[in-house]
Amino acid sequence: MKIDQIFQNNSDWVSKRLNLDKDYFVNLSKGQKPEVLYIGCSDSRVTAEEVMGAGPGEVFVHRNIANMVPNTDLNVASVIEYAVKYLKVNHVVVCGHYFCGGVKAAMQPADLGLLNPWLANIRDVYRTHQSELDAIQDEEKRYMRLVELNVQEQCINVVKTAVYQEAMRDREISVHGWVFDIHSGSLIDLKIDFKKILDEVMDIYKLAE
Ligand code: CO
Repeated sequence: MKIDQIFQNNSDWVSKRLNLDKDYFVNLSKGQKPEVLYIGCSDSRVTAEEVMGAGPGEVFVHRNIANMVPNTDLNVASVIEYAVKYLKVNHVVVCGHYFCGGVKAAMQPADLGLLNPWLANIRDVYRTHQSELDAIQDEEKRYMRLVELNVQEQCINVVKTAVYQEAMRDREISVHGWVFDIHSGSLIDLKIDFKKILDEVMDIYKLAE
C-alpha cells in the first residue's frame, strides 16, 4: 500500500460520508458512546470494525500481538479501565483468530528476543491446558485449539480485573470469546461457559465486594 494512496483514499472517504450526511463529522466530534470493547490481534488481516460491520463511534478497540490481556500490561489495563468505568461499555469481546502468528510463534521453541516475555503469556496458556493440547495429534488442530484456549484465558484475565468485577456488581456487562476464522471470514462465538468459569475464578480472584 502506497502512503500517498492513503491520503487519496481518505479524501474519497470524507466526500462519501459527507454526501450521505453533511453533519457526519460534526456529530462524530461530539463524543463517543460505544457499547462494545473489542480486544483483538494486531494482525493486518483481522480488521476489527470491518469484520463486525461497525462504523466509527460503535466499538472501542484495543489490538496487540495475539489479543492478550496480560495482568501486568498497563496498556490493556488502561483500555479496560477507561472503556468499562468511563465509557460504560456493556460488552467486552476478546477476539482471536486462527493462523495467528503470535500463537504459532509461542508454540516454537525459539529465542525471539524482546518478544519472549510477551509470548510467555501464551506459553503459560499452553502449560495450563497442556494435557488437553498434547492429546491432539494433528498439529494444525492443536494450534487452532490453542488459539481458542488463549481467547478463553484472556477473557478470564478481563474478569480478574477489579474494574470489571465492580461493573458486574453494578450493572449488566458481559465478556465474550470469539475467533475470526480467516479461512471462511466468519466470526465464531466460542460460547464459553462463563458462569462456570466465573464461579471457579471468583473463588480466587474476587476483588470487588
Ligand atoms: Co494474530
